[in-house]
Amino acid sequence: MGYHTIIDIFQVLSLSRSRCKLLLFCTMLCFWGYLLYSQFGDRFYAHTVTRLSQRIISDNHISRGLLHEKNDMDNAGEDLEEVAGDVQDDEVDPDLSQDRFRRRFPQAIIIGVKKGGTRALLEYLRLHPDIVATGAEPQFFNRNYNKGLEWYRHLMPKSLENQLTIEKTPAYFITKEVPARIYAMSQSTKLIVVVRHPTTRAISDYSQALEKKPTIASFETLAFKNRSAGVVDSDWIAVQIGFYAQHLVNWIQYFPFKQLLVVNGDRLITNPAAELGRVQDFLGLRKLITEKNFFFDTEKGFYCIKKTEEDYKIPHCLGKTKGRAHPDVDPEALQQLNKFYEPYNRIFYEMVGEDFGWD
Ligand code: A3P
Repeated sequence: MGYHTIIDIFQVLSLSRSRCKLLLFCTMLCFWGYLLYSQFGDRFYAHTVTRLSQRIISDNHISRGLLHEKNDMDNAGEDLEEVAGDVQDDEVDPDLSQDRFRRRFPQAIIIGVKKGGTRALLEYLRLHPDIVATGAEPQFFNRNYNKGLEWYRHLMPKSLENQLTIEKTPAYFITKEVPARIYAMSQSTKLIVVVRHPTTRAISDYSQALEKKPTIASFETLAFKNRSAGVVDSDWIAVQIGFYAQHLVNWIQYFPFKQLLVVNGDRLITNPAAELGRVQDFLGLRKLITEKNFFFDTEKGFYCIKKTEEDYKIPHCLGKTKGRAHPDVDPEALQQLNKFYEPYNRIFYEMVGEDFGWD
C-alpha cells in the first residue's frame, strides 16, 4: 500500500490533507519506535543501568576492585567439610543405559550471592525428582576455566534427559569474566541469585572468617576506613559483595532478565516453601516441593528438610557452618552501613522490579 493510498484512506475519514500527513507521521514514528525498542530495548536498559550504577559507584570512590589487602578474607567458597552431610551421593542405577543416563552441562546455575542461602536453596532443590545437582562448588567459570568444558561436564552428576542439572558457585556473581563464559557455554542457561540484606550478608561473611581465624580484627574495624566519620571501607570484599546492582550489570550485558531469578534469601529462611514455589515455576518444573517438605527445627533455629511424611523422624538440617551465631556489632555501625548501602539498594530494586525493604 503506497503513501498516496494511505492518505486517500485518511481523507475518506474526512480529515484534511495536512492532518492526514501528521497522523501518518505519528503512526510511522510509533511503529519505528516499537521496532527499535523490541530490537534494542534490553540493551538500552542495560546501558542506562550501567551508567547509573557506574556514576554512583565512582561517587563513592569504589574503584580498586576486589584486590584489597583485607580481602584475603576467605573468598574461596565452601570448604568440603562445610558441605559434608549436606551432599548426597551420585546414585547410579545400573539398569539405566549409558546413553540415557549421562553427565550434562547445567541448564541452571545458582550464581550467588555468597552467604545468601545458596546451600539451603540447592539442598531444597535436590528434593525434586527432576533435578540433579553437584555437591561441592565447581568454581569452574571463575577459577578452573582453563581446565576446559569437558572437565566441567565431568563434575556434573549423571542425569536423564528430562532432568535438570544444577550447580552453585556463589563467587560467579562477583567475577567479571563469568557471564561471558557461561554465555559461551549456553545462551539459554537459567541463572538464580539469592540475595539477602547486604549488611547481614557482610556480617555472615565475617562470622565465617572469624570462625576460621579467631584473631582477625573486629567487624567494625574492617568495615570502616574512618569509624568516627562513618566512612565505610568499600574496598573490603565483604562490603563489595553487597553492591548487588553493580555486579548484576555485568550479567544483564549477556542475559535477558527473563533468564534470571532473584530469590529473596531472607524469605528463604522464614518461608522456604514460598520461595521454592517461585524457583520451580522459573525452572519450568512441576511444583512438587511444598510446605510438606519443611519443618522448623527449634534447636537449629532454621527450617530443615523432610523428604516424605514418614521421613519426619529423620530430619535433614544443614551442617553447623550454616546458620552460625553472628557476633554482636555496634548498632551505630550497623546504621551507618545500612545508610551507606541505601543508594546501591535503590538501584538494585529498580533493576529487578522489587523492593526488598532493606533500608
Ligand atoms: P548464617 O550462617 O550467617 O546464618 P550460603 O549457603 O550461601 O553460604 O548461606 C549461608 C546462610 O544461609 C546462613 O547464614 C543462613 O542464614 C542461611 N540459611 C537459609 N536457610 C537455611 C537453613 N535452612 N539452615 C541453615 N542456614 C540457612
